[in-house]
Parts: sequence; C-alpha cells; structure tokens
Amino acid sequence: MDSLTSTATTKKTDAAASSRETLTITDNRTGKSYDVPITHGTIRAMDLRQIKTDPADFGMMSYDPAYNNTASCISRITYIDGDQGILRYRGYPIEELAEKSTYLETAYLLLYGELPNEKQLKDWTWHISHHTFIHESIKKFLDGFHYDAHPMGMMISTIAALSTFYHDAKDILSEESRKKQTYRMIGKMPTIAAFAYRHTLGMPFVYPDNELSYPGNFLNMLFRTSETRYHPNPTLERALDILFILHADHEQNCSTNVIRGVGSSHVDPYSATAAAIAALYGPLHGGANEEVVRMLHEIGSVQKVPDFIKRVKAGETKLMGFGHRVYKHYDPRARIIKRVAYEVFELMGKNPLLEIALECERIALEDEYFVKRKLYPNVDFYTGLIYQSMGFPTTMFPVLFAIPRTSGWIAQWQELLLDPEQKIARPRQIYLGTSRWKSVPENFPAARHTREVSRCTPVPQFRSCCLRLSTVDYELVFSCLPFPRTNCRPAERCGIVKASENSMAELPNNPANAAHRRRSQRVLMQLSVRIYGVDTQGKPFDEECDTLAINAHGALRTGPRNATLHHQGRTGV
Ligand code: ACO
Repeated sequence: MDSLTSTATTKKTDAAASSRETLTITDNRTGKSYDVPITHGTIRAMDLRQIKTDPADFGMMSYDPAYNNTASCISRITYIDGDQGILRYRGYPIEELAEKSTYLETAYLLLYGELPNEKQLKDWTWHISHHTFIHESIKKFLDGFHYDAHPMGMMISTIAALSTFYHDAKDILSEESRKKQTYRMIGKMPTIAAFAYRHTLGMPFVYPDNELSYPGNFLNMLFRTSETRYHPNPTLERALDILFILHADHEQNCSTNVIRGVGSSHVDPYSATAAAIAALYGPLHGGANEEVVRMLHEIGSVQKVPDFIKRVKAGETKLMGFGHRVYKHYDPRARIIKRVAYEVFELMGKNPLLEIALECERIALEDEYFVKRKLYPNVDFYTGLIYQSMGFPTTMFPVLFAIPRTSGWIAQWQELLLDPEQKIARPRQIYLGTSRWKSVPENFPAARHTREVSRCTPVPQFRSCCLRLSTVDYELVFSCLPFPRTNCRPAERCGIVKASENSMAELPNNPANAAHRRRSQRVLMQLSVRIYGVDTQGKPFDEECDTLAINAHGALRTGPRNATLHHQGRTGV
C-alpha cells in the first residue's frame, strides 16, 4: 500500500471509529435523538443537559447517589482493576512496591509521578526529616485534650490547627508553597500521631530523631522510654513501612473524594486534610480496622464463628473488614498484609484473634451469601491484628492509616488544583420537597422577635436600630448599621420599614413553569424598602433604600445601603 492510500485508509478508519465513539440517546418524551460523544468509555454528564422537553426545561441530569458510577475527575495517580484485584501506583504494581521500595520512595512516586533517583531521594528524605518537629504551641494544644480523647479526633483538630501556624499555606496556586506544605504535612503527621498517643498515656512526648527512617522515627516517638537512643526492631520497622506503602493511596475513595471536594474551594491544604481525616475516621472507611478487632473480640472463639456468620447473613450485623466498593475480588493489599502478619506474629507471638479471623475468612469465602455478593477480605481485615500485636491500642489503628494516606491525599489535591477542568465541587440535587408556597404564621415566632428587638437596642457608637419588616408571607428583622442619619434617635422613634413585594414573590414554585420554579429557588422574593421617621432635630425623613433580595435560605442577596439583615422568620419553601 502506498503512503497516500495508507493515509486515506487510516483517515477513513479514524472517521468510522470516531463516529462509532458516540452514544445515541432517544428521548421518548419528545421523540428526539441525540448523539453524545464517548471518551474513555465515558459520556459527559453535561452533554445530557441538551436533552429538554421545551426551551424552558433545565435539561436532563444524571442521578448517582454515592457516586456508584460517576467519574468525578481524570487522574493519573492510582489504577485499580477491582475485578482482577489489581492495584498500581503510577503504573507500578503494589506487590513490587511493597517488596522493593520504601514508604518515602512511594510517597515521592505518588507526588511526582516517578520513583526518585538517588539524589532526588536524598533531597526528599532531607526535606521530610527536617519538617518533623512541631511548634511548641501545638504541644500545648494537644495537652488540652482529655486523657481518653480518641486520637483521630486529636488528629483532625491538630492538622486543622496547623493552618493557623502556616499562613503561606493559603497560597495554594504557588508551586513553592505547595512543596513546603507537602514536606510539613508528611513530616509532621507521625509526630502529631505519636504525641496524641503519648498524651493518652500521660507519657512525656518524645521528639523526632531525624537519623532514623520514617517508620523507625515514628516507632521511636511512640515507644521510647528511658533509652538514650531508640533502636527500632528491623522486622517491625519494615512491617510498618510496608503497611504505609499499602495505604498510601487508593484513587477516589471516600476521604480522597473529600480532600478533592474541600480542596476545590481553594482552602489551605491543612484544612482540607483535616476534612479527609474526618472522612477516614468513619467505621465504613478507615475506622473499619478498629471495628474488625472489636468484632473478633465479640465473637470470642473459633466455635462461635458460624453463629456470628449466621447473624451477618440475617442482616443483623456486618462482617467488618469484608467487602469493597471497587474490589469484587481479593483485595491485593489484604494478601500482602496477611503475609506481613505472620512475620510480625513470629516475632511478637501469635495474636489469639488470628484463629477467629482465619475461620471467618474460611467460612465466608465458601459461603453462598459472600460469594454471590463478591465479598472478600479488604485491607482492614488483617491490619488490626498486626497493629495489636505491635502494641498499638485499637484507637490508634485509623491513625496508622491516616499517616501514609497523607501522601496520596496531597497528590490528589495537587492534581485537582492543576486540572484546568476542575472547579468548585457542587453537585446537583433532585428536589422532592414540597412545591407548595407556605406562609409563616402571623407573629411567628413572636418571642424571638421581641428578644431581637431588645438585643438591638441602639448603642451610641453604632447608632444601630432594629426595624421590623412585614410582608404578606414573612416577617424579617434587620438592623441599620449605622443608621443613615447621623443623630438618629432610638429605634421606636426611627420609623418602620415599608415593604413592597415585586412580581418575584408571585411566582411561587409554579409547577407549570420550570424556569420560574428554578429562579424562585434562587431568589425567593424582592422587596423595595423605605425607611422613614424623625431624626434628632425633629426633622422628618423618608428614604427609599435599595432593593432587598432574599433567597430560599433567608440570606440577603443585595441589601439596602447601610443595612444588614438579621433573619428571624423561616423563609424556606
Ligand atoms: N458484611 C455483610 N454483608 C455485606 C458486607 C459486609 N461487610 N459488605 C457488603 N455487604 C452486603 C450488603 O449488605 C449488600 O447486600 P444486599 O445486596 O443483600 O443488600 C451487598 O453486600 C452489597 O453491599 P453494598 O453496601 O451495596 O456495598 P458498598 O460498595 O456500598 O459498600 C463497604 C462497601 C462500605 C466497604 C461495605 O462492604 C462494608 O460496609 N464493609 C464493611 C466495612 C469495611 O470493612 N470497610 C472498609 C472498606 S476498605 C476501606 O475503606 C479502607
């Protein structure tokens, strides 16, 4: 085939292929058909908006509670094939990373896209280990917690508090700032975690030893007592490092979705990470490892496992550590963890709960209920047993998840910020609440209005006064700060607000008019406001103010000059 023919054939094939890469949707309400492009096996939800019954129609949306089948981003960090049980970070299989790399190398890989060379690793390790110390005030902050405070609660609050120490973190669009916060976050997480643990024991805090490895230093801060130098046990140090590698990232899981969602508001990374830790804390997510050990204790013995499984099948309880939204096959991390568990047990002695766990797994893997639902052990099923054997209390288990997940969170947060397609996360809803226009009863709630009026008694320096505004449907109280007249008298002398509604209020959720309905959810009513009365010189005044627009939450959209709204009544439809 000559090159011309070849090019023509290729073009033809491309055109045929691209015309096949569409989805044709026929709307049976209108009989119209739409061709929607398919890219990466996905259609864009925004392409559905062109599907309308009439020009005023908002357009079609997709409904996907819990994002069962919705891609919220394009990512190049972590790949999971849930049916095959495959997990790769930046193309590297998790099994190989667990065998050949360290957590810090893996964190670098997640953040920068490739494993570090020798120099990069040296620099990276230096930067992380030189950001392990925390401000002395954070120690005081931790001291404020009760002795039995859950360490995850302490982590959430303390990481959020870091944002008050590092103001440069707000500069999220600066690469330099993001790098700095990354060092700080990865460096300080183990320190804060260890300090939280020591606080619950009433033990003095142990400062970081930057000569030790990342997991070695963590063990030092947790367990060092009177030794001048702590030497971590190499088996435990490596076991912890492997567990950290396995937990470093897991694409769009609940907490990662949270850091992306919160980060999309452009808040600083400490506040966004605190939100992610909160999501991880839940028993359906990173809190599951804690729940597994509780469950195994509750079962009590191998003989009682069949009874417990019966209760699970009857829907009375869950087999914690089993099941996964994405993995419909053995979680590859659970396989590696099971091997690590035996290495730790060899050193520390077998965990008495292991036999119960193995029996649960044996029965579940053969039982129709679990097989049919593709429920396999997940990452949390065996981690708790390892952590327990290493001497950690159960409350520390989710913390041991949060520390390594920080690198994944930051990598995903950064990817979000650099993605020009991303905007503030803001899903749609299907509103099925009442469409009836409701009126707040006359004088509702009278007592609160009275309180508000007295609270707003004018203070000389503000010369504020409260005025009540009555409309047919609502009662609102707002105050003028400062009052437009310089020498205004107390409220009762200042007059009354006169309100007149415009047509917007007359469009209450008219089901026949979709466009009006949507508009009325945004702006519930508009009021033009007049203020009149007598000033201190006895001169009457009568002023037209700006238009006041009130949305469904009672918020003031555009206010009269000098006026702030103290919303009192309920305005929701
Ligand atoms: N024990 C018993 N039944 C289960 C379990 C379980 N652990 N997990 C799921 N099922 C059942 C559900 O009841 C449901 O049954 P049904 O079809 O008869 O209603 C079916 O399996 C499908 O479960 P869903 O809840 O739809 O699965 P989903 O993807 O929403 O939930 C989750 C995944 C939250 C992980 C769930 O399997 C679970 O709660 N597991 C236990 C908690 C756990 O181990 N969490 C850690 C997950 S890994 C991580 O986050 C790090």
